[in-house]
Amino acid sequence: MNRVLAHTGARYPIVQAPMGWIARSALASAVSEAGGLGIIETSSGETEACKAEIRRMRELTSAPFGVNLPILFLRDEAMLRFVCESGVRFVTTSAGSPAKFVAPLKAAGIVVYHAVPTVDAALKAVDAGVDGLVVEGAEGGGFKNPEEVSTLVLLQAIRARVDVPMIAAGGVCDGKGMAAAFACGAEGVQMGTRFVSSAESPVHANYKAAIVAAKETGTHVLNKRASPCIRALKTERTAAIHEAGLMPPDTFANILDLYFGGDMEASVGLAGQTAGLIDEVKPVAAIIEETVAEFFAIAARLGALAAERRFG
Ligand SMILES: Cc1cc2nc3c(=O)[nH]c(=O)nc-3n(C[C@H](O)[C@H](O)[C@H](O)COP(=O)(O)O)c2cc1C
Repeated sequence: MNRVLAHTGARYPIVQAPMGWIARSALASAVSEAGGLGIIETSSGETEACKAEIRRMRELTSAPFGVNLPILFLRDEAMLRFVCESGVRFVTTSAGSPAKFVAPLKAAGIVVYHAVPTVDAALKAVDAGVDGLVVEGAEGGGFKNPEEVSTLVLLQAIRARVDVPMIAAGGVCDGKGMAAAFACGAEGVQMGTRFVSSAESPVHANYKAAIVAAKETGTHVLNKRASPCIRALKTERTAAIHEAGLMPPDTFANILDLYFGGDMEASVGLAGQTAGLIDEVKPVAAIIEETVAEFFAIAARLGALAAERRFG
């Protein structure tokens, strides 16, 4: 039995990444309805809006969904308490130590996966009692560990040390990426960049078009010497930050003008290296169905090779 499916109750082990302001009910319900697991973000810090989005999910879908709690960004325990009482069954924690959060979440009957960028962080999270890990490789978009380790290596390194189920995040946007992640021990995948650029994503068409247009070299890792270190699309603004090495403190001030106004120079457009693989804006259901079909086609091809002990 696939443990990610057992833990999430979803039809497919494909999770939509938490993304501030973007991972709300329009996108998350489309993913859950299509058989994946939609996740509602709380990293925007808009507590009341996020609570309303969690309630709205119940009106839009009867399929399971989850919530992300970015520990360092939560201003108080209001969101934690709300989630514990909301009936949500699956939570991912990120950005910070999950130690204090695991006990109240599990007491509420919630399965907890923690996002980790290193083996050390994975060991600490498992010690803290999490049920599983979201293994975040350096290819992915958004907040990153400045010590870049690829998803392929990180999955193997963590699997060598711990037994809990892993969801691979970073560098996965289709069945090829999913098959590669499973080969390295993952039992699920999380996609951010792929779903930001989906038809149901609420972001401006310019942002989706910039992801579609980007090459595999189309992103920068910025602010490696400070916090937060992020991966974002190459633009004039991100080129200047990259050159300077440090990100001005007001960089995210106008992020909504980029996300929803389409001004790609207003802030930094978070995206991962899969921007170089994505060449079309597609509906969520098509993304999920194609990913699953491609995953099984690859598994069948490799299974046939194994059956006959051939390499091609
Ligand atoms: C636009 C965007 C916003 C993101 N915002 C968040 C966030 O608020 N919280 C978080 O834990 N991760 C965030 N991430 C990281 C994702 O959760 C995920 O790990 C990553 O997107 C996976 O890599 P991929 O982009 O290659 O699919 C964001 C990623 C993107 C692309």
